[in-house]
Amino acid sequence: MVRKVASMVLLGMLACVLSGSQIAARAAAGTEPIREVVGGSLAPAGRFLWMVRLSMGCGGVLTAPGVVLTAGHCVAGTGRDRSIGVLAGTTDIRSGAAIRAHSVAVIRAGGFREETRGDDWALIKLDRELNLPVLDLSHGGADEAGPLTILGWGQTREDSLQQVHKLRYGTVYAVGDKKCAQAYRKIGVRLVEDESICAAGRGVDTCQGDSGGPMVHQTADHRWVQVGIVSFGLGCARRSYPGVYTEVSKFHADIRAATRQLT
Ligand code: ARG
Repeated sequence: MVRKVASMVLLGMLACVLSGSQIAARAAAGTEPIREVVGGSLAPAGRFLWMVRLSMGCGGVLTAPGVVLTAGHCVAGTGRDRSIGVLAGTTDIRSGAAIRAHSVAVIRAGGFREETRGDDWALIKLDRELNLPVLDLSHGGADEAGPLTILGWGQTREDSLQQVHKLRYGTVYAVGDKKCAQAYRKIGVRLVEDESICAAGRGVDTCQGDSGGPMVHQTADHRWVQVGIVSFGLGCARRSYPGVYTEVSKFHADIRAATRQLT
């Protein structure tokens, strides 16, 4: 019974996880236990100041003072768009100190179709520049090994539909493309290996509502660089299904060019 309810909840959440009712049905029939997720901790106030919360329920990152990088599946498409509210400059989005801005235009990756098919990134131009730090994009290589930090205001459990108001973060490790692709093949998803980076931790993962947020690496000189963008996953923190992130280094030049277009 518990599993049945959990499966139904899961089905409901598949909207941002996997499209296609066939895949959904197969996934819901799976035997993996539902586990607690993100499994991370509360982000200390005043840290990660390039992190923003978007009104459609996604995360994002300032890549320029007036531009936010998020996931392609978080936005409606390229063009004028004044509908997206942005909360910035705080780990607690309920705090009165949160800086508010809104979108004026969006550029979504040209090849984007849905999150499981690659090109899952987009840029949002804000109505003004914010006086906050920006996050650098990774060039790949060593940044993608070692511990990676994930952040978000999304669900802390796969079966809880609630978002949180205090930013949480956790540590995950990259999982090989082959292994990740093999897992997702079982549920009918063909991983776009050269545009994705999969990552997992024991009971640690991003979840619904974390999409568009960053996966970051801390360099030896303590700078953060963005390695991934939260894209999709089957459930959250399931042992056999790592989280899938847009591989930022693969789109470095495209994101830079689009950012210039918006500034
Ligand atoms: N698609 C989700 C969102 O829109 C992100 C899912 C991430 N899932 C995972 N297991 N890492 O918020």
